[in-house]
Amino acid sequence: MRIWSLDRLISPAVAALALVLCLLTVPAGAQENAAAGDPAAQAVSEQQLLDEFGKIRGRITIPDNKAATLQQPQGRDYQSFQRSTLPWVGAIAIIGMLVAIALFFFVRGRVRTQAGESGQKILRFNTLERLMHWMTATAFIILAITGLNLIFGRRLVLPLIGPEAFSTWSSWAKSAHHFVSWAFMLGVLAMLVVWVWHNLPDRYDANWLKSGGGLFDKSNRTHPPAGRFNTGQKLIFWSVVLGGGALSVSGLYMLFPFAFTDITGMQTAQYVHAIVGVLMVAVIIAHIYIGTLGMEGAYEAMGSGSVDINWAREHHSAWVEKQQAKLDGPAPPHAAAEPAE
Ligand code: HEM
Repeated sequence: MRIWSLDRLISPAVAALALVLCLLTVPAGAQENAAAGDPAAQAVSEQQLLDEFGKIRGRITIPDNKAATLQQPQGRDYQSFQRSTLPWVGAIAIIGMLVAIALFFFVRGRVRTQAGESGQKILRFNTLERLMHWMTATAFIILAITGLNLIFGRRLVLPLIGPEAFSTWSSWAKSAHHFVSWAFMLGVLAMLVVWVWHNLPDRYDANWLKSGGGLFDKSNRTHPPAGRFNTGQKLIFWSVVLGGGALSVSGLYMLFPFAFTDITGMQTAQYVHAIVGVLMVAVIIAHIYIGTLGMEGAYEAMGSGSVDINWAREHHSAWVEKQQAKLDGPAPPHAAAEPAE
């Protein structure tokens, strides 16, 4: 017969440790009253301790100082954020975006190339740019799926596949999230370096925004002029660079826990990471839609790298003119003397 089972030993040990920690944190006045023979003075409530110290802390002898904090009220806010606020924000952002896209598609339909295909192609993105884009895109999609598993997995995936499969999948998902993050960070940095000059504000932006980029004109006749990237694409670019930057910094804090910050900093990093992450998933869903189903001819730009010249003229007229001027070579000397427009 086993008299000393492990769980029987552990429960009294935990209770004793909690008691020691509480006694150690009892305010000095209460300890004096207790010593003076007033047993009620020992009854310090949890709330009193939290009011006085902001947390319930004891003294420990092991080197990990964090272990001395038994309770921290902001930990409860954090827990409620993880369990309730975050899933709601994530669901509203992602489902909201899907509904908006579906409505847009049914009302507006596909954005067509009004002039039709000419058969003449123009290079839009070179091999290096496409490699950079697809590396970042693949990494982001893996990060999005494995990250969303942390928010919704227990509610949505666990009931479908059962606890064992869910624990195996989640463990792989967590490792993938950690390793793939490096490719994403590299990709975002490369996009910033290679594309930043084409994504600065220019004289076409105000007009592009005013006409909604022609996206809402069902007749496909509105084509506001744009450079290499139109204003909508610039917004995507800056969302990727700034959102990706925030995800990277907060992610590095989490990859190396407590290396750069304390518990409050760790919680802030997780708030930032989770909120920026779900918002970026919503933004990228819109980007994927317009790059595939939403706009005729757009996918080729990142697929083969070349687009039809009519497509390019409709969506990036100022860029096409510049490219053609480059191909035509330097202007003849008399043209250089002509006044600017
Ligand atoms: C299956 C997923 C994706 C598809 C089909 C796709 C498609 C495209 C296409 C066709 C373009 C070129 C548009 C043009 O010619 O002007 C583009 C550009 C771009 N993509 Fe993606 N993309 C995907 C995922 C992503 C992801 C996950 C990111 C970043 C996290 C991303 C970031 C960008 C950026 C910054 C640009 C340049 C700005 C712009 O055109 O909006 N893409 N993408």
